[in-house]
Amino acid sequence: MTNSTTYRKIHVSASRSYDIIIGDGILATLGEQVQKLFGKCRLAMLTDSNVNALHGAKITEILTAAGYDVCKYVIPAGEESKSAENMLAFLNFMAENKLTRSDALIAFGGGVVGDLGGLSASLYLRGIPYIQVPTTLLAAVDSSVGGKTAIDIPAGKNLVGAFYQPHLVCCDTKLMDTLHPDIYRDGCAEVIKYGVILDAALYNKLQTPPFNRIDVVARCVEIKRDVVQEDEFDNGKRGLLNFGHTFGHAIEKLSNFTISHGSAVAKGMVIAARIAPLCGLAEIEKELTELLTHYGFNLDCPYTAEQMYEIILSDKKRRGGNLTLVLPHTLGDCHLVTMPVEEVLEKLKNVV
Ligand code: GLY
Repeated sequence: MTNSTTYRKIHVSASRSYDIIIGDGILATLGEQVQKLFGKCRLAMLTDSNVNALHGAKITEILTAAGYDVCKYVIPAGEESKSAENMLAFLNFMAENKLTRSDALIAFGGGVVGDLGGLSASLYLRGIPYIQVPTTLLAAVDSSVGGKTAIDIPAGKNLVGAFYQPHLVCCDTKLMDTLHPDIYRDGCAEVIKYGVILDAALYNKLQTPPFNRIDVVARCVEIKRDVVQEDEFDNGKRGLLNFGHTFGHAIEKLSNFTISHGSAVAKGMVIAARIAPLCGLAEIEKELTELLTHYGFNLDCPYTAEQMYEIILSDKKRRGGNLTLVLPHTLGDCHLVTMPVEEVLEKLKNVV
């Protein structure tokens, strides 16, 4: 690998095996990586308006210099873009550009681009290879890894999707220098999540920010890799990664996505921590609230239990009349607790 100083490589063995490379400046090696994986081919690149303005010319130059013909499709930045309409338009764009199964897709952006790009890759010609190039902390530690792809539909977030693993994740931590502090903080919620669910040592390290970005991203990715290898299709342990997300998704949706994913997950983690002692688990709410507040999160929940419950009823994790909540016990140890959905409402009424 050229043009990089220190980088980390993490290998994932799931239904597809692939590497995740993480480091400052490694975007410069993307052409070389594509060459190694696919040789000569054409590339479709999906990105959003913010990322395109900041880094679009640079990535195109890197890929063109490596001999690639890139057709780029830009969606407006923001969660509203993760729609069926945008996905169909992008699929049509790839067809108009005559991409074939021996070509590949690059998803260059945050979670919206990664999820929509991944789902498009799984559908176009019944599946073409794709590379995730995450540009946000949140995408780097969560959505770009593990093969969950999705779009939102009016009934809820991520309700249409597929498990479809990428062929490579190329995570240039230097790109995060240009992130707005609010967007960076969003990613910190997911990083804190990993500490609470599975790694008390990581949690302790996060008490004294700023953290070493490459080390922390690599640790989160290792944790996620281990979970995905054990339960790729989300029938058990992978549920732990949803800590804070059942309530977080409801808050995001109720706010019409004006509350960002990370902020909503932070609120959702605190709600879960309040419910935990009602289910016989330990109380970590105080510690967690202190850490999240230290990172600048507003933890007030502006919605009622009943409002959240309405949204939770269409949560894709509901199985019949039951829902499995991720509840913290001690730091680094969370439990999956299944209960009837009506009981979720009762618990919520006690804590929001
Ligand atoms: N973002 C949760 C998961 O990948 O399972």
